[in-house]
Amino acid sequence: MQRFGNAIFCAWLGAMALVGHSAQASPSATDALASTTQAAANQAAADQVAADQAYERRTGMNPHPVVLQRPAVAPLSAMAELGRAIFFDKTLSGSGQLSCASCHDPNHAYGLPSDASVALGGPTGVSQGARAVPSLMYLERQPPFSIGPDSSADSDTAPVSLTQQAGQATTVARQDKTATAPQQAAQNLVPQGGLFWDGRVNTLQDQAGGPLFNPVEMDAGSVPVVAKKLAQAPYAGAFRQLFGASIFSNDHLLVSEALFAVARYQIEAPSFHPYNSQFDAWLEGKAALSPQAMRGYLAFNDPHKGNCAACHLDQPTADGLPPLFTDHQYEALGVPRNPAIAANADAQYFDLGLCGPFRSDLKSQTQYCGMFVTPSLRNVALRHAFFHNGVYHHLREVLDFYALRDTQPEKIYPVRHGIVQKFNDVPAKYRENVDVVDAPFNRQAGQPPALSAADRQDIIAFLRTLTDGYAPSKAAPPLP
Ligand code: HEC
Ligand code: HEC
Repeated sequence: MQRFGNAIFCAWLGAMALVGHSAQASPSATDALASTTQAAANQAAADQVAADQAYERRTGMNPHPVVLQRPAVAPLSAMAELGRAIFFDKTLSGSGQLSCASCHDPNHAYGLPSDASVALGGPTGVSQGARAVPSLMYLERQPPFSIGPDSSADSDTAPVSLTQQAGQATTVARQDKTATAPQQAAQNLVPQGGLFWDGRVNTLQDQAGGPLFNPVEMDAGSVPVVAKKLAQAPYAGAFRQLFGASIFSNDHLLVSEALFAVARYQIEAPSFHPYNSQFDAWLEGKAALSPQAMRGYLAFNDPHKGNCAACHLDQPTADGLPPLFTDHQYEALGVPRNPAIAANADAQYFDLGLCGPFRSDLKSQTQYCGMFVTPSLRNVALRHAFFHNGVYHHLREVLDFYALRDTQPEKIYPVRHGIVQKFNDVPAKYRENVDVVDAPFNRQAGQPPALSAADRQDIIAFLRTLTDGYAPSKAAPPLP
């Protein structure tokens, strides 16, 4: 079975080398020497950062260009070609109107083409989905769901259940996340990885069955119904060629191979992971950022401003893999309730992410209620609905949320009888799960926001450099 890439966290580790010192020196002299050496090293590092930033502001260029390792581009395998045909096949849906591409449109970063918070599907195309449609791009390195640090590193230890992992995690303090040292937080015993906003499936193949049979999505009906359609599809010959004619006598195998083919398509087709944004070109020293985008990049990385890179990692890995703009971890940000979701008319209904309602295995781990996965920000400017409930439709609103959630909450949440309904999409008993420690969320009402209005505009300009399809030849970097 295909392995979908390891977690990238290990690549962040081991960056710091300690300075050696003489074995003859007395302990106190050694300590003094070590701390002087350490202070000198810190000063040198700070000087380097300042020099880099001055260079970045002056030229818009990357002071330390890298060579990015992109996935190899090869012609699609026969399996992936078959997957592509299935991905765009509307006849598989109950209504005959919806293919995967209807919600995951290649022209919109494989996300929803419309402005709606959630998609409409089901037998007559009027049933509302429960969550914003995520982009299908850049999932090829998504690690499987786990609770704890990268588990692939110690794969010879016995596997433990999620409940056991969650139990262990409660005994360990969580490191705050800062943009300058994201590798510290990679060690946190927190939920990470998996697909969907709540990580409830591990692989792209397992995943495709979800929307296909989901009654409010493609509503394809039963396995035999889908198998019959596959056997009569224009691409049925490809099944025969790949698996032999006997495939048509086993409905479950046929559908499962179809889902595998769709997964192969997403993994093989370069359009799902081109890594060719302006920012990628910048990382490689092949493009400059505009002064505004450059300021945005610095604010994105500044632990006292956006601190965005603490969770949306923006450095290439040690072996040159392009940054994915996610640490794959789960957080409760407490985004406002979205009245556009019909289910929310019921005041008792809450989408709690990791602890339900769409997964039930972590239901009793109430410390995770309200948590959703950190999405990649690649191509985020092509999206029309933001956060798991699609409550926002403009990046401006998202940036206002980050800046004002704690400092001016009355601008973010409804006010009822003079009381701000802060964290109104998380039941009161779980509000302590909401992140109030990582900047920019570590402020109090009335304090100045971590991000000024200008900083927010700058960060949006930076986010626009994450859109794929940048052609460096059309916009040559300025002369030095
Ligand atoms: C009616 C709209 C709709 C259709 C059609 C649809 N999806 Fe989705 N898809 C969604 C929504 C909504 C989610 C997020 C659901 C959640 O998190 O609970 C999602 C999530 C996913 C994810 C996980 C993405 C991530 O970031 O973790 C994958 C992969 C995916 N869909 C693939 C497919 C495939 C393959 C098909 C066709 C077989 C398909 N989808 C059809 C709406 C749709
Ligand atoms: C503590 C970790 C953390 C920090 C810091 C953080 N984010 Fe996020 N970000 C998340 C999580 C988690 C989500 C999804 C939350 C949800 O849907 O409920 C998210 C969602 C987003 C989205 C929506 C993407 C989509 O496709 O729906 C954008 C845009 C975004 N973040 C930008 C930023 C910016 C800009 C900053 C800095 C100002 C930032 N984030 C700081 C964790 C973080």
